[in-house]
Amino acid sequence: MPKERLDKFIANRGKGTRSEIKSIIRAGRVNVNGISVKEPEYKINEEDTVTVDGAPIDSEKYVYVMMNKPSGVICATKDKNDRTVINILGDEYKGYKLFPAGRLDKDTRGLVILTNDGDFAHNSLSPTKHVKKRYIAHVTGSINEFAVRKFREGIELKDFTTKEAELIIKERKDDFTITEIVIGEGKFHQIKRMFEAVGCKVVYLKRTDFGSIHLDEGLKEGEYRPFDQKERAYARAISEGGHDL
Ligand code: URA
Repeated sequence: MPKERLDKFIANRGKGTRSEIKSIIRAGRVNVNGISVKEPEYKINEEDTVTVDGAPIDSEKYVYVMMNKPSGVICATKDKNDRTVINILGDEYKGYKLFPAGRLDKDTRGLVILTNDGDFAHNSLSPTKHVKKRYIAHVTGSINEFAVRKFREGIELKDFTTKEAELIIKERKDDFTITEIVIGEGKFHQIKRMFEAVGCKVVYLKRTDFGSIHLDEGLKEGEYRPFDQKERAYARAISEGGHDL
């Protein structure tokens, strides 16, 4: 980490606005390596230990949280009418300015990544980086090898032609078929529109994977947890421009 201003360092880790942090520092509540520092512009580096009222500040600037989004919640930071994925988060994340990396429809469930890392969001959503997203879709209508081929070859929708997608027919039930679909792009209602184009209707949609990040099966709908070390390393690699495998 290059040298960073003390007030910015603390503010970037969700501990308040820059002006709130400046007053906290001036009030003598911040120590750097055990010594009180009262200048907000004081420069620190990654070896320094910073405490506010004696509590150490986590040196990680970027936050990544995986959530199992329930149906009925929207992927936005705020909304007048609907509950958002950010509303679900507890107070410990309030100061971090997290946002969802990409959007799922209101009725889609499953893996959403909340972060304050704009480069991760940008790169992981760019089709050129090949970060594949995997979904489980329950569909009604007749689904067969024709649809599998169409998904692989690309489907001409009204406004664009889809890139290669993998469709796996998993299990036929009485009223619907369970399928898995993997796509590397994420246009508005893309999966629903792709199935519609082959005469089917999606009645349940859940995202299970986002690149190498797999939805933790221990998370019930509406639950979330921070990334573990391996997931963080993956996110940082994508953020710094790496392609997915
Ligand atoms: N495709 C859709 O149609 N909806 C989603 O929520 C995600 C992908």
